[in-house]
Amino acid sequence: MDLEATRQGPAGRLRTATARAALVASALALTGCDGIQSALDPAGGDALRIYRLALVMTAGGCLIFLLVTGLLLYAIFAAPERRAWLGSRRTVVIGGLAFPIVVLSGLLPYGLIVMRDTDMPRPGALPVEVIGEQYWWRVTYPADQERAAFATANELVVPVGRPVTVSVTAADVIHSFWIPNFGGKIDMIPGRVNRLTFTAERPGIYRGVCAEFCGDQHARMAFDVVALEPDAFADWRDGQAKPAREPDLPDLARGRELFRAGGCGSCHEVRGTEADGAFGPDLTHVGSRRTIGAGQFPNNVGTLAGWIANTQHIKPGVRMPSYGAFTGEDLRALAGYLESLK
Ligand code: CUA
Repeated sequence: MDLEATRQGPAGRLRTATARAALVASALALTGCDGIQSALDPAGGDALRIYRLALVMTAGGCLIFLLVTGLLLYAIFAAPERRAWLGSRRTVVIGGLAFPIVVLSGLLPYGLIVMRDTDMPRPGALPVEVIGEQYWWRVTYPADQERAAFATANELVVPVGRPVTVSVTAADVIHSFWIPNFGGKIDMIPGRVNRLTFTAERPGIYRGVCAEFCGDQHARMAFDVVALEPDAFADWRDGQAKPAREPDLPDLARGRELFRAGGCGSCHEVRGTEADGAFGPDLTHVGSRRTIGAGQFPNNVGTLAGWIANTQHIKPGVRMPSYGAFTGEDLRALAGYLESLK
């Protein structure tokens, strides 16, 4: 029990409780600011510029709001002879005309400078193509001197310290590409290519989302962003450019046969095998991804098996039908094969 509050009686207790609640609320609000999907925890220069602009606007807006509220209360409650100056010509000219002109003339160039410096084309940027589909992300890394082009899905792996230029478009409806920790969002429009350049400045795992309503499963259209040190990124890219590994266990070989016999290859590509479908995500190295279902579940044999058997139950409206006819044993073999594609 708070002695001070007890001494103060009910009003004091109420004040103490209110202060505590405010403290807890602000602590909670602050802990919510950092994280893998937060515009308030910038992990790159562009995001930092936008974050600062937001801080200046929010703080400035709050100050002006408090000032105006204070003046309003003063105008209502102060004695007439004390508040008379509020109605003078001088107050109106300074407060109503000069002040907004000065503030807005400062904010406009600041905003324009942030816009100019953010998302600039940068030499030596790594090009990546991302296509928004209902409800997943097709990601393509073009060929470079050492490696062939390859596709992956629902995962954007980037090197730390090197700018990345993402060219985005959409296959069906308008989506929007947004990685809150790295900066602004950009629309993905069918038939048009938009570009966004950002630089990851610290390694880590982040989360990107679709920021434009695109259908039933819009809210379940996310992707992982993995920022790796340059060496680790080069290793990852080498691995992804290779064809799929051969099954080295009988159960995995059975899984691959089920994949073939089940017709999975008519929608999915597994480079190095006869599966060459282009409709769904490329599965050549699906086992190396962190999540499945566009950021919905951790990637393991259990979730893969559940996904194959129940897509329409888990994410109704996706293009992949549920494959409920597989036996449990077949599902395990099939999922085990996919999981082995590292
Ligand atoms: Cu795609 Cu919302």
